[in-house]
Amino acid sequence: MACKVLFTTSRGIEDIVVQELNLLGIEAKPRLFGLDGWVWGFVDQPLTLAQVCYQSRTIYRGLLVLAEGEVRRTQEGLQDIYEIVKSIDWTEWMTPEATFCVRSNRSGRHHYQSPDIERTSGQAVIDKILELKGHRQKVKLANPDVMVRVDVTGERCVVGIDFVGEEAMQRRGYRVYDHPAAINAVLAAAMILTSDWKPEEQMVDPMCGSGTILIEAALMAKKVAGGFFRKDNFAFRSLPYFSSLNFDDLMHEWDTKADWNVKAKLFGSDISPKHIAGAKLNAERALVYDTISWEVLDAAELTKIFAKGSVRCIIVNPPFGVRSGSVAKAKEAHRLLIQVAGDVLSEDGRLVVITHHPEWLEMLIPVADLTISKRFHVLHGDLPAEILVIRRKESSSQSMGVHLT
Ligand SMILES: C[S@@+](CC[C@H](N)C(=O)[O-])C[C@H]1O[C@@H](n2cnc3c(N)ncnc32)[C@H](O)[C@@H]1O
Repeated sequence: MACKVLFTTSRGIEDIVVQELNLLGIEAKPRLFGLDGWVWGFVDQPLTLAQVCYQSRTIYRGLLVLAEGEVRRTQEGLQDIYEIVKSIDWTEWMTPEATFCVRSNRSGRHHYQSPDIERTSGQAVIDKILELKGHRQKVKLANPDVMVRVDVTGERCVVGIDFVGEEAMQRRGYRVYDHPAAINAVLAAAMILTSDWKPEEQMVDPMCGSGTILIEAALMAKKVAGGFFRKDNFAFRSLPYFSSLNFDDLMHEWDTKADWNVKAKLFGSDISPKHIAGAKLNAERALVYDTISWEVLDAAELTKIFAKGSVRCIIVNPPFGVRSGSVAKAKEAHRLLIQVAGDVLSEDGRLVVITHHPEWLEMLIPVADLTISKRFHVLHGDLPAEILVIRRKESSSQSMGVHLT
């Protein structure tokens, strides 16, 4: 039985998600109906979706699609949603004792809000089960057995079962030290995947904060599943549909893909001793302390550690100067990055930066004989940002690809 699935992710990295899903054995297509942040695929059975949700590093959620259709933007759209949700035989997914709730993400202009969609859809589920089996299904708003999602984007409505649950996949479960401006782990993984980095090549994050980018790189190098540290935190575990399966055993089997002995060449530094201490705690918790070196260092001093041309990838999230710190300091940090990239990157090296201020880099790049080879328009929290892949001018014709899962 082929099942249609919808993966949600950050706007702008859909093509990177497709590459990762292909490596995990799933045929996927980005932005069906032109919708940002949505990637579609087919799996052979629902259990494969659970496995992909567990392993992926670039998705937020995975939904098993049960119905979809067009809805009006006017108040009558709620009736359309009711009909779509009621067309599903929910008794296949819920035992009489199971609890459920509906969550909705809505984007675009509508004469109704997400809570209206949730209320209407919840009623449709209850009415359908009442009609078919004569009992009233119980609603539970926190930690239900079945989380139904009804997402409406423009005039498109997708109804499915959420396999990930309340906390999306960027919550990896290894962060014990919280940096005030930490990068979301899904965006960090996407930056690494698009950099073409391989574990035997030197990677540096000279403004590493709590170490997210390097920890993600180390876990990728060791082929550790994205869900490894949140094993108990997946909605699919409580789905009545899977009640005969032992997910502890299954996850153990899926984990055999990991190779904890792999050592990658990873270096992280930050001007703040407090953040480096926090990054070390996070790396310890993520079981990758053996493969990342840490220093308290001003990025301007990176050439004291790395010789000219010795670094293959700098992957970095400099300060944006928006939530904390001054704009002038953030601008100076961007200038420094271009300077150190020119100094330490190898001929085929890459500087991958996520920034709210691409114009600061664009001004300096030509002067430093660098060029932008790719750009992705993403959301960093609720801030629009860009991921830029920058390289030396003379190597700009070389191909890029994804080597890690
Ligand atoms: C946006 S934060 C990085 C957050 C990090 N990606 C994480 O996930 O925790 C930017 C970091 O740049 C550091 N920084 C700013 N200027 C620096 C400089 N000249 N040299 C080294 N680090 C610097 C700050 O201390 C801050 O931790």
